[in-house]
Formats: sequence, structure tokens, C-alpha cells
Amino acid sequence: MEDVSQRFSSRTGWDLGESAFAKAIRRARAEGRDLIDLTVSNPTACGFEYDAEAILAPLSDPHALLYDPDPRGMRSAREAVADYYASHDAQVDPDALILTTSTSEGYGYLFRLLCDAGDEILVAQPSYPLFEFLAEIEDVRLQPYPLFYDFGWWIDFAELKRRISKKTRAIVVVHPNNPTGHGTGLAERMQLEKLCQTYGLALIVDEVFLDYPYRDVSLRSFAQGSHPVLTFVLSGMSKIAGLPQMKVGWIATFAGERDRSEALARLEVIADTFLSMNAPAQLALPGWLAGRAKIQRQILERVSANLNEIRSCGIESGPESGIEPLEADGGWSSVLRLPRIGLGTGDLLEKHGVIVHPGSFYGMAESERIVVSLIVEPKIFAVGMRRIREASRVFDPREAMDTTKTL
Ligand SMILES: Cc1ncc(COP(=O)(O)O)c(C=O)c1O
Repeated sequence: MEDVSQRFSSRTGWDLGESAFAKAIRRARAEGRDLIDLTVSNPTACGFEYDAEAILAPLSDPHALLYDPDPRGMRSAREAVADYYASHDAQVDPDALILTTSTSEGYGYLFRLLCDAGDEILVAQPSYPLFEFLAEIEDVRLQPYPLFYDFGWWIDFAELKRRISKKTRAIVVVHPNNPTGHGTGLAERMQLEKLCQTYGLALIVDEVFLDYPYRDVSLRSFAQGSHPVLTFVLSGMSKIAGLPQMKVGWIATFAGERDRSEALARLEVIADTFLSMNAPAQLALPGWLAGRAKIQRQILERVSANLNEIRSCGIESGPESGIEPLEADGGWSSVLRLPRIGLGTGDLLEKHGVIVHPGSFYGMAESERIVVSLIVEPKIFAVGMRRIREASRVFDPREAMDTTKTL
């Protein structure tokens, strides 16, 4: 008989098996080992103090009983987002905003707006790994362009330009980047805009970490100033208010009048097809934005304390095992350079009970780079960093060559 088993799209033909690293973590947890997890980046699981009443009460606004959908999102919510940008010295027209259920959904809308199947989007490398999935499920191909490190992270413009093809539709910039913390300065912004103008590309700027600059750094929103090319700025509640579970994000659109209204009209049809925003969250958004300082203050303090902890580990331990945090401008994570090549995240887990992300998880080729979350509770973070320092001291690279544990 003919095989009639169900067939699925090739775009969903992922390797769904557990990675070796995930398996090792699961096994260590099952064995009840004392593990320190330096990858936790969910703000609701990091011991911050949330104002429960202020966050939850607006969700029971009786206006939510009326279903009156607006594909761009409720006007009152969009005005609150425009006020958020005013606090960043940027003028945003509430009518140029489309609310989405997350920044991730915002990417999905933009890929649909800009790309046909097989078209390409340029994305920085290292960068946030979710992009690959977001692009794949829209049949879009990601083309990485390198960030290089030289006393700070920089866009490699020569490479970026080389990777523009007839199929390229947009350049994505994460400002500041996750995990490198690279903020895009004015000179880089101008170069990006020039490239977009020359090749007819849109600029997509993900600013979810904009409100988390490191001390003495100032990060300017791409919503500021004039916009010579079609520019989309994405952000949302996940990081601005530490509320990823509330599922609110947005796309702010900037361009000359013709492109802007064309883009918005098309985006509106995409949004209208799903009408994915729920009423309670939209009604609550102005209050959540107004209350953001409380959580942002706690996160900024924590990031700063954990960065100090990393620096003290590097200095105290001396040049033979100094752990170096790579220079960055902001965000919730830090890329660390470990002193000895060959000390893998598998060794850190198996021998020292500390979980970190390998740089390769974010597309970094250098095996001695690891990534830690800076919003982990400071006491836990300090124990984790001490374990990493200890591992760097005692690690014998010859031993690693005899094992298969470099995951
Ligand atoms: C750079 C970046 N963009 C977007 C997101 C996802 O945000 P959202 O929860 O709004 O989809 C994340 C999540 O960590 C992120 O790091």
C-alpha cells in the first residue's frame, strides 16, 4: 500500500533532538548536583520586586468587556508608547505605531512586509539566536554580517557591503546588541542609512535593551532625528518593564511620507489578519510604561553590581587566569573571554557545576568566549564567577584533549 503518512513543510524540518549540552544539564539536574545557572535571563525569575497591584489591577478595567479592535492597536496605548519615545527625545506619531504581541511578532510582520520567499535579511553576528527561527518560518534567509571586537565592538562595514545581494531587503541592527552589548553610534547609524539608501534597503532596529546603558554610556534611540530611509524601530514590555509574560511590543515606522504611509497601510492589513492584541493588556499598557522606572532601577543596579563582580574576578586572579569582560555599552548579558583556550562550557558544567552559554550559541567562533546573564541574583552570580575563576586556574588543556567533554 502507498505510504500515506502525514507530510510536513520542509521549513519545519528542524532537528528536534536535545543538544548534547541540554542533555548534560538535564542529567546534572536529575543527579541533584549543586548547579549555578548563569544563563537565567527571565526577569520574572530573578528575584526583582514587582508592584503586583499596579501591574495586575489595570487588567480588570471593565472597558475590556467591549470588543472594538483597531488593527494598529488601541489609540490610548499607542499614545503611551509615543510618550515613552518623548522621554527619549524622539517624536513618534501614534499613527505610525503598530502594536504587536511581542517584538518577535513584530519581526514576523516586517519579514512578511518586506520579503518574498527566499529574500534575504542581513543580521549582525554575534547576535540573538531566535532570529534564525523567525526568518525560517517566514521563508526568509538570514545573511550574517560580522561585528568585530577591537577595544569594543564594531560593525564590519566592508563585509556588510559585500553581503548585500539582489535579494537583500533589510538590515537588522540590535541596539544595544544581545549578547555583545554593542550600541550603534551616530557614525555607524549614518553609514547604515547610506548603505540602505544606496541599495534600497529598509533598516530594522531592535531597541529592546535601549533603557539599559552601562554607566557613563548614552544610547540614542533610532526614533530620534530624521529618517532618510524606511526605518522600523522595535521594542516592547519584555525588557522595558521586565514583563515578558504580558506579551506587548510594537513597531514604530519612520520614512518620507510616501514610503511611510505605504508601509503602514500594508502593515495594517497584516495586523488586521490576526488582530492578535488582547484588550486588557492594551488598556494596562500606559500604566505599565508609567511604572517602568521601579523595575529598571533594580535591573540597572544589578547589572552594574554583577559587572563589578566580573571585573574583580579578572583583576584578583591575575594575568595567569584573568577573566576579561569584553567592552560593551549596555544590555543584560556579558561576553567573557576566558584565559585558557580549550576550557569548554562542558567542563564548566561537569567539573565545576556552573552553566553558561558558549559563545557559539550566539554565532561566535572563538572557543574561549562565553556569555553570562547579568540579571542573575548577585549572590548566585558571585558563586558562579568564583567557580569560573577556579576552573580557569586549575584547568589543564592537555586533559581536555583526552576527553570528549568540550560541548
Ligand atoms: C534582542 C532581542 N530582541 C527581541 C527579543 C524578544 O522580545 P519579545 O519578548 O518582545 O519577543 C529578545 C529576547 O530576549 C532579544 O534579546
